[in-house]
Amino acid sequence: MRSQINPSILSADFARLAEQAEAVTGADWLHVDVMDNHFVPNLTLGLPVVEALGKATGTPLDCHLMIEDPDRWAPQYVEAGAESVTFHVEAAAAPVRLAREIRAKGARASMALKPATPIEPYEDLLPELDMLLVMTVEPGFGGQAFLDIMLPKIRRTRELIAKHGLEVWLQVDGGVSASTIEQCAEAGADVFVAGSAVYGAQDPAEAVRQLRAQAETVMSAAAWACGH
Ligand code: DX5
Ligand code: ZN
Repeated sequence: MRSQINPSILSADFARLAEQAEAVTGADWLHVDVMDNHFVPNLTLGLPVVEALGKATGTPLDCHLMIEDPDRWAPQYVEAGAESVTFHVEAAAAPVRLAREIRAKGARASMALKPATPIEPYEDLLPELDMLLVMTVEPGFGGQAFLDIMLPKIRRTRELIAKHGLEVWLQVDGGVSASTIEQCAEAGADVFVAGSAVYGAQDPAEAVRQLRAQAETVMSAAAWACGH
């Protein structure tokens, strides 16, 4: 399987979202950070913007919900047009029911872990998920430094996915750049969110190509990716 590069529009110009979506041709998904100023200390955008952006771009939307009460809100993001919806397990009252509801509505179901949340208690939930997001910064803001102490968790998560013979994608988000993407790929990540590293670049589409080339070079040699 090839790597997937998901530019985060948090680092884009919010006044020109449709144009900024087109600036990353070649991206697999557009990563859309929804923040409610409760789960994280920042406020971004919600359902109307997701719906409008989905209509304005051909690139599928990967919605990362950093919000309280995802049990109530996440299904509405599927209805708004998101093809992948990520909720935080720390905020979900019933993660299994929620993942099933997202899938039943026709989107990919994904669950995120903040840096201090371990994967081990959720091993049995993995078959309910299409993707697991290991945060590599504290959620809330773009442009933060990559937490390399998360690399062991990425490795353990990849091992659990393999142990159960699952096709769950493993996403990393936060501080992913030319200097950190290779460590993530080596540890077992296959979906890479990059905000400032893409939209802060002179040529965002070229930044996507370069990140992909780096990830794929590492993945083609990584033991975890054999037969992947
Ligand atoms: C942070 C968001 C990220 C953010 C990443 O809470 O979830 O998606 O946009 O930005 P960079 O890549 O700049 O760390
Ligand atoms: Zn995100």
